[in-house]
Amino acid sequence: MSMMFCRLSWSMRSIQREAARRWHHTSLTTDLIENMDKKATWDRFYTETGDKNKFKNFEWFFGFDSVQDFILPLLDTQPKTNAPLHILDMGCGTSALGPCIYRDSQRQVKVTCADISPVAVCLMQEHAQNSPVESKNPHSTLVFQELDCAELEGHFGPGSLDVIVDKGTTDALLRSREGRAKAGQIVRQCLWALRHSGSLLQFSDEDPDARLLWLEKEIRNDGGEVQADVWVQEIGVLRGICYFCYQVTPHKTVC
Ligand SMILES: C[S@@+](CC[C@H](N)C(=O)[O-])C[C@H]1O[C@@H](n2cnc3c(N)ncnc32)[C@H](O)[C@@H]1O
Repeated sequence: MSMMFCRLSWSMRSIQREAARRWHHTSLTTDLIENMDKKATWDRFYTETGDKNKFKNFEWFFGFDSVQDFILPLLDTQPKTNAPLHILDMGCGTSALGPCIYRDSQRQVKVTCADISPVAVCLMQEHAQNSPVESKNPHSTLVFQELDCAELEGHFGPGSLDVIVDKGTTDALLRSREGRAKAGQIVRQCLWALRHSGSLLQFSDEDPDARLLWLEKEIRNDGGEVQADVWVQEIGVLRGICYFCYQVTPHKTVC
């Protein structure tokens, strides 16, 4: 698959490489290496890197162009209903991913861009107001919401989401000192919130040997029963790092 990567893109490995290269790395870099599961780290990140007067999307790994072929065809295969497809960009940050799905989907969608950081949500909201994007479907909607994705139950109904996209959010939690348990909780919340025809897409630089093992553990219920199917596809290589798309689809009984 051909890939277009955004120039302004970071990955966990590039942060770690950069930090290791410098003798004195900043306290923000230290925070990012160790505490990417913490709201305070991300509030600080978006405050220090964002510019209210001149908004610029910040893309983790890469932008929408690199992953649209994993997302848009999946929307087309969802069962036809009168209701819009509900898409959640989980841990949206200031990425253009959610707004681009809203813009390019022919099907009617409601895209919710959600993040634990109110700073990121506020920047996105203001940008959408100042530079509105037109959707291919005039009935589609785009909303921004501050929320902790480990607590989807407080915000969405069971089986109410069609597609959840996660670009770098689970990676951030898994690589933090204390984020692993929360990352597992997020996967279980996604399975609870997804329609049985729906899918969670995780875009990640983690190797399948590690991520599949972890996902296969997290998709089991308390009785050890497997609650979902998991697939992996290679996205491509950027600056020597291979990226993957992990697709998790709940079994019908979960909802
Ligand atoms: C690595 S960044 C990726 C941002 C964005 N998806 C992108 O592709 O540029 C991880 C994002 O997850 C958010 N985040 C971390 N924990 C979260 C949680 N529990 N619930 C919602 N968002 C969370 C952070 O605020 C941050 O914006």
